[in-house]
Parts: sequence; structure tokens; C-alpha cells
Amino acid sequence: MEELRTPAALLDLDRLERNASWMLQRAETLGVRLRPHVKTHKSVDVARLQTRGQFGGITVSTFAEADAFVRGGFRDITWAVPIPLSRIPDAGELAHRVERLQVLVDHALTVEALSTYARSHSMQFDVLLKIDCGNHRAGVNPASEDGPRLAQCIASSPELRFRGVLAHAGHAYDATTRAEVETVAEQERDVTVGFADRLRRAGIEVETVSIGSTPTMAVVQSLPGVTEIRPGNYALFDVFQATLGSCTLDDVALSVLTTVVGVYPDRNTFVVDAGALALSKDPGARQIDPDSGYGVVVVGGDRTKALPLRVRTVTQEHGVVVGLDRAHGVNVGTRMQILPNHSCLAAANFDAYSVIRKGKLVDRWALSRGWNI
Ligand SMILES: Cc1ncc(COP(=O)(O)O)c(C=O)c1O
Repeated sequence: MEELRTPAALLDLDRLERNASWMLQRAETLGVRLRPHVKTHKSVDVARLQTRGQFGGITVSTFAEADAFVRGGFRDITWAVPIPLSRIPDAGELAHRVERLQVLVDHALTVEALSTYARSHSMQFDVLLKIDCGNHRAGVNPASEDGPRLAQCIASSPELRFRGVLAHAGHAYDATTRAEVETVAEQERDVTVGFADRLRRAGIEVETVSIGSTPTMAVVQSLPGVTEIRPGNYALFDVFQATLGSCTLDDVALSVLTTVVGVYPDRNTFVVDAGALALSKDPGARQIDPDSGYGVVVVGGDRTKALPLRVRTVTQEHGVVVGLDRAHGVNVGTRMQILPNHSCLAAANFDAYSVIRKGKLVDRWALSRGWNI
């Protein structure tokens, strides 16, 4: 590890394996299939750990991820953003390389464009309908008539196979207490299962009922009516999840290894070579911890400090840490790990993970980032 250049994305294998096993166990206990979202880490090696012993399906958010994971041997893929019209040819091409590629829709124009493409290419698309379970980001309003109408439109198109419904409780990240996360988890489940039942009553076959975020899947007690869950962040975890209560700081498997490049005793600060393009600018769970900064500095390997040092500001490549007086012995050249607020956004800044076990570098794993391959 001493030879690594900084900033570097360190992936702690013991913690990663523990996190992966935990969610596999959760899925088994809850009686659902686990289709982890790989956008968190964008690494085929990580996904292999996450899907061990399960059916092997994964969730992706970009074509670059889908392509890399297909090349890595994954054969059952859900592309879980409403498919952009410009990416329909990419989806058409991908569909021929896998056993199942499910695309996501929430608008009639997209359904029409998928049908048109499929008809002219003598193929069929597997389609999931996105439901807004309270997040208000994307998805049809499950209480309106639009959802059943769109589902019917997909189900009756000869070029499309209606596979089911998908929701994501992103609003769990706004919660201020564990009880609030639990309420969101129940809402995510109940709204999605209720909508699937409504479609069934209207004579539409619903095979898949897919939900899940890391905070909701960390707390939910039971999932009757749900067929699969799609958490992703849990593989790495981060400071955001620790603040929400999905994990502890000790579970965070991703850290950014950084070097102190300047110390300023008169203003009690030091600067590290990890700024926004290493840690991201995600503010974290500010509704719970207004002082969250941009990452927790692990001084001397101790993650249990009551008052951990935070990166206070970030610019593109500088991270400013306040509290030099508390960071014993820090000087130019000191190396330290920073736990990011949001692992998914931090990891996406790096080309590869430096994989460590018990403080030793054991491997290097590539990430499939970007948009086009
Ligand atoms: C559609 C969808 N499904 C699943 C996930 C995974 O959720 P999390 O990152 O909380 O694990 C995300 C994350 O944003 C998502 O957008």
C-alpha cells in the first residue's frame, strides 16, 4: 500500500465480502431474489461476490456498465433508468447478447419507440414499468389511470413482453430517523405490490415486482408480494449510509487514500489531494448531520472516534480538512484514508480499485465508467 500513488480508491475485501454476504442473507430471509445494482461500484469482480449463490441477475444504469458486465459473463440484466430514445438501438444490440435484458419505461412515447424499433428489427423487448412509490423522481403515478393504461399498451404490443413493475425509494435518503426509513420501506413495498395487484385484477400478468434501495432493504421486516430487490450501495456503504443507520463506519469498504499536500497551522487546516474528483461533492445526510462535510478522515486507522475529522470543503482536486490540532503528527506527505459521503459517486472518479486485505494490496479491479464504450 505504501507504494500506491494518490488519490487511490481502496477497496477493503474483508468488509466487501461481509457486506455482500449480509445482503445475500437478507434476501434469503425475506424470501426474494437479489438483483444488486452495480452502478455503485461498476466492477464485475464485486458483482461476482454479490451474486454468489443467487440467480445471478444484476441491475445497471448505463450502457457502458451493461456492455462490460455482459462481457464479464452476466446474462440477466435490468437497465433501470427510463430508457433514453437514443439508446434503444444499444438495448436492441445488447438483447441479442444475453438471456434477458429488461428495459424500463414510464411514458407512452418510449413504448411506441421500442415497439417501432423491435418491429423493424424482428425482435422483442422485455419491458418493466416504472412506478413512482413516493420518490417523485421518475415513474408513473400508481394511483392514476396512466399506469394501467401503459401496462396494457405494453402487454398488447406484439413486439414487447410486459414483465412487471419496478420502484425505487430514493426518498429514504431524506429520512431523519430509522423509523422514517422504515415507513418509506413499507410504502415502497405496499405501493408497488398494490399496483401489481391492480394490474392483475385488470387481467395483466405481472411476473416481476422489483423494489429496493440500501436504506429500505436494511430495515424492512417482510416483503410479501415482492419478487426481487435491487439494493446496490450496501456493497461498499459510505458515510451517508452510516448516518442513516444502514451500517456503521466500520462497514464502509471504500475509502480514498490521499496524501497531505499542505499544512496551515495558523488557520488550523491541512489540504489533501482528494477533492471533488475523488470524493464527489455529495453533501451527505445533512438533514441529520449538518456538519457532514465531504468525507470522514480516518486518522491512524481509528473509525470509532466520537468526533471524526471531516473534509470541510472540496474543490476539483483539493480537499480542505479543519482540525489540524486534532490530527496528531499530520504533515506534508502524511497519507490517510477518507471515507466518502457517497461511495457510488466517489468510486466513479477512478479507473480501478486498489483491493486491500488486512492493510495489504492484493489486487486491482477495473471499473466500467463513462457512457460510451
Ligand atoms: C432504480 C434504482 N434501483 C436501485 C438502486 C439502488 O439503491 P441504493 O443505491 O440505495 O442501494 C438505485 C440507486 O439509485 C436506483 O436508482
